[in-house]
Amino acid sequence: MKTLIDPFRIKMVEPLRYTSLRQRQAILKTAHYNPFQIQSDDIIIDFLTDSGTGAMSDRQWAAMLVGDEAYAGSRSFRHFQETVQEITGFKYIIPTHQGRAAERILFSLLVRRGQMVPNNTHFDTTRANIEYNRGKALDLVIAEGKIPAMRHPFKGNMDLGKLAALLDKHHQRIPLGMITVTNNSGGGQPVSMSNIAGAGELFRHHGIPFFIDACRFAENAYFIKLRESGYRRRTILSIAQEMFSHADGCTMSAKKDGLGNIGGFLALNDDALATEARNLLILTEGFPTYGGLAGRDLEALAVGLKEVLEEDYLKYRLRTVEYMGERLLAAGISIIEPPGGHAVYIDAAAFYPHIPPLAYPGQTLVCELYRLGGVRTVEIGSVMFGKHDPRTGRERPAAMELVRLAFPRRAYTQSHFDYAIETITQAHRRRRRARGLRIVWQPPFLRHFTARFAPLT
Ligand code: F0G
Repeated sequence: MKTLIDPFRIKMVEPLRYTSLRQRQAILKTAHYNPFQIQSDDIIIDFLTDSGTGAMSDRQWAAMLVGDEAYAGSRSFRHFQETVQEITGFKYIIPTHQGRAAERILFSLLVRRGQMVPNNTHFDTTRANIEYNRGKALDLVIAEGKIPAMRHPFKGNMDLGKLAALLDKHHQRIPLGMITVTNNSGGGQPVSMSNIAGAGELFRHHGIPFFIDACRFAENAYFIKLRESGYRRRTILSIAQEMFSHADGCTMSAKKDGLGNIGGFLALNDDALATEARNLLILTEGFPTYGGLAGRDLEALAVGLKEVLEEDYLKYRLRTVEYMGERLLAAGISIIEPPGGHAVYIDAAAFYPHIPPLAYPGQTLVCELYRLGGVRTVEIGSVMFGKHDPRTGRERPAAMELVRLAFPRRAYTQSHFDYAIETITQAHRRRRRARGLRIVWQPPFLRHFTARFAPLT
């Protein structure tokens, strides 16, 4: 059969509320053209993030009922711990309420002023947590990873030549190394097994601990199975185990490939570091057998982490992203190619070539997709990453102007994707009428969440 069907049927539904074009125009104005300020009841299709927004399975909901809410020694923690140990092979499993809590603990133990942490591309929260500890977050993704229309099977790979040179020169200033799978900030692009192994070897050679930012480890493992020679007959579990075998630990937001609505963990092998991490955990997250989560959350994650390894699920997951990518390319819309594991990234600079970066083509497209179809997306461009240049007093634009459509797991069906594609192609037909936006108010940092805009006329 050529038709790929969703590997689930629906047992419980959540109604969508439709809005009219007119209503949405008014809502956008009230939200100052910033969709972070729109109530989710006013959204028809929400592609803002794939984090914590997925649908849990009947088995996960059933597991929640047997959650053990004991403060200490919870049985649910044991289930969670056994599952994470089986997949990652790491000795110590420290639960946290989400990914960034694991990052905060790890970096506050290891990173000191003036030190550097290399990664393929840091996600915002790993970068911010490193900088908060006065360290420097370095991005060493391969050159292909920075060119939207260039195809490469593992565009999330780290540039190992650059990493080797950095380590030779500065190894004393590097307290740990990281690799993010898949590379979210670079388009959800996968990292190959040989690249993970190569990075691991370089760090080991210098005695530097190596951690994987593992949010989307299962999607990455499936890309390895499809694209790297020697993995076609392997199970996703064994590929994931091999990925983790090259590292000394990982941080994970279980809101992604944990198939949970909340949760995360830090996993590692080092005895002394684990003890220190647990001490910090008790200070802010909770006792080490719950770490800021309810017992029922731990049960749901123990099931979710197994379900995410099922190939029928991963095949549908990656195909969904690929399908939308193909349809957009066919309509003449530029995207990051090839599409990654969890999202499609539209090149808004190519979409609106007449709108200069500082009139925010990405934010303009985000607003237009909401206005035309009630579809919520997020700008990853000069609104998010534009920087004030103290020398000129002017704003420096970001390297790329992207709009991300991140797909919640198991939540939307093909008609939703077709509707979103129709919305985007409609915006594309009307592209010459778009004028851009200007900022009328902004906070001192992380402005994309709360900045206010007005349309240029
Ligand atoms: N690392 C990566 C690669 C991520 O994508 C995220 C979250 C985190 C760490 C932090 O995890 O949110 O549980 O604290 N990414 C979400 C996104 C928010 O929309 O891409 P968290």
